[in-house]
Amino acid sequence: MATEQTTTQPVAKDQDGAEANGRGRPVLSVTDERTGRSYELPITDGAIRAPDLRQIKMSEDDFGLMSYDPAFLNTASCRSAITWIDGDKGELWYRGIPIEQLCEESTYLEVAYLLIFGELPTKGQLEGWIFDITHHTYVHENIKKFVEGFRYDAHPMGILLASVGALSTFYPDAKHIKDPEERYLATIRMIAKMPTLAAFAYRHNLGLPYVYPDNDLDYPGNFLSMMFKMTELRYQPDERLSRALDVLWILHADHEQNCSTNAVRGVGSSQVDPYSAVAAGVAALYGPLHGGANEEVLRMLERIGSVANIPDFLEGVKQRKERLMGFGHRVYKNYDPRARLIKKHVDEVFEVTGRNPKLDIAVELEKRALDDEYFTSRKLYPNVDFYSGLIYEALQLPPAMFTVMFAIPRTSGWMAQWLEMVDDPEQKIARPRQIYTGGGPRDYVPMDKRG
Ligand code: ACO
Repeated sequence: MATEQTTTQPVAKDQDGAEANGRGRPVLSVTDERTGRSYELPITDGAIRAPDLRQIKMSEDDFGLMSYDPAFLNTASCRSAITWIDGDKGELWYRGIPIEQLCEESTYLEVAYLLIFGELPTKGQLEGWIFDITHHTYVHENIKKFVEGFRYDAHPMGILLASVGALSTFYPDAKHIKDPEERYLATIRMIAKMPTLAAFAYRHNLGLPYVYPDNDLDYPGNFLSMMFKMTELRYQPDERLSRALDVLWILHADHEQNCSTNAVRGVGSSQVDPYSAVAAGVAALYGPLHGGANEEVLRMLERIGSVANIPDFLEGVKQRKERLMGFGHRVYKNYDPRARLIKKHVDEVFEVTGRNPKLDIAVELEKRALDDEYFTSRKLYPNVDFYSGLIYEALQLPPAMFTVMFAIPRTSGWMAQWLEMVDDPEQKIARPRQIYTGGGPRDYVPMDKRG
C-alpha cells in the first residue's frame, strides 16, 4: 500500500531540479526591461511565491508587480497533502492511494477517514468512526420544520445549501475552530447528517413524509432507506445498488482545489464555523459548470433523443451553440479516471434496474466525440459527470437530485480540506488583489444636476 508520499509531491520536487543541476537552491532570474534591474525569485516545489514579485518596482512608491490569474489557471492557493491529480496521465490519488484501489477494496466511510486523518484506519478506529457517524445521522426536529418551510418545488440543492448553513445555528460551539473536540464533532456531524438532509429535500419535493435514519443499515443502505422507504417496516436495500452508490461516493469524495473546495477554503479562511464554510461549498457545487453538470448531461441526452441526432448535436457544439456537458476538465487533459470507473458500474446497476436507452446515446456520443478532431485537439474527454447521471436516473432520482448526490460524498473532502486549512500556519484570510479598471477620482453629482 502507498503511504504518505504525496506530502512531498515527488513531481513538484523534480521540477525544481535543485539537486540535479548542482546550483543549490533553484531560482528564477528575471530582468525587468522597464528598469533594466534583475531579480532572483526562489523556486520551491515548482512554484515561485507571487508576493516575491512585489519587489519588482518602477519606483519606490510603486505598489510592485502582481500576477494576474482570474480563474486560478496557474496559481496554487495552498499546500495540500490530501489529493493528487495528474491531469495528463488521468491519475487520481487520495492520500497517495490510487482511486482504482480504493474503489475496489474500500468503502466510502473508510475513504472519508483516510481523507480526514491521512491514514487508513485500524479495525478499531474504523469501527469507532462508523459508530460515531451512525449515531449522528439524526437532525434536530426544527431542521425538519425548516425544510418543510420550502415550496413544494424548491430545488433540493437549494434546500441542502440552506439547511447545511442552518446547522451552524444548532451547533454554535462549532465556531471554536481551534478546539479539536469541536472540529471532530463538526466533522462527523457533517458527514452523518448530509444524507439525512439530502433525503429530506428529496421527500419534500415528492410530498412524502421524511424517513428517519436506520442505524442498523450501513451508510449507503441507510440513505436508500431514507429516500425510498414506503410502508414496509424495514427497508432492505439491494446490495448491488448500495455498493454502486458507495463506489460513486468514493469517486466523488475529494478532488483537490476545485471550485467548491476553493469556496470552502476561501470562506473558511475568515474563520467562520465549518457549517457555514461547507454551505459555501454546496453553493459552488450547485453551478452547472461544476456539480450541476451531471444534471445538465441528462437534460442534454434527453434533448438529443436518439443516436441518429448525435451528428447534428455535435455540429451545434462545434459552432459553439452549446457545450458538450460532461466533457472537458480544467485539470484532466486525458480520460477522467472517475468516468472510467463509473462506466464499469453502470452495467451492474442496469442489471438491477433495467437498461436505460440514454446509455446508448451516451456511449455513441462519447465514441463520436473521441473520434472528432475538434474534441481531441482540445483534449476534451468524458469527466466524472458524463456517466454518473445515468446511474442516478436508474436509481429513479430526478435530475435535480444529481448534484445533491455529489454533495453528500464531497462533504468529507470539504471537511478534510477545511481541517488542513485551519491548521496551516501560512493561511490567512483569502483576499485577492485586483487590477482596477475604473476611473476617478471624480465628484459626486447631485440628482438634479445629472444629465
Ligand atoms: N464542450 C465543448 N467545448 C468545450 C467544452 C465542452 N464541454 N469544454 C471546453 N471546451 C472548449 C472551449 O470552448 C475551449 O475552446 P477554445 O479554446 O476554442 O475557445 C477549450 O475547449 C478549452 O476550454 P475552457 O473552457 O478554456 O476550459 P476550462 O478549463 O475553463 O473549463 C470546464 C473546464 C468548465 C469543465 C469545461 O470543460 C466545461 O464547461 N465542461 C462542461 C461542463 C462540465 O461537464 N462540468 C463538469 C466538470 S467536472 C466537475 O466539476 C465535477
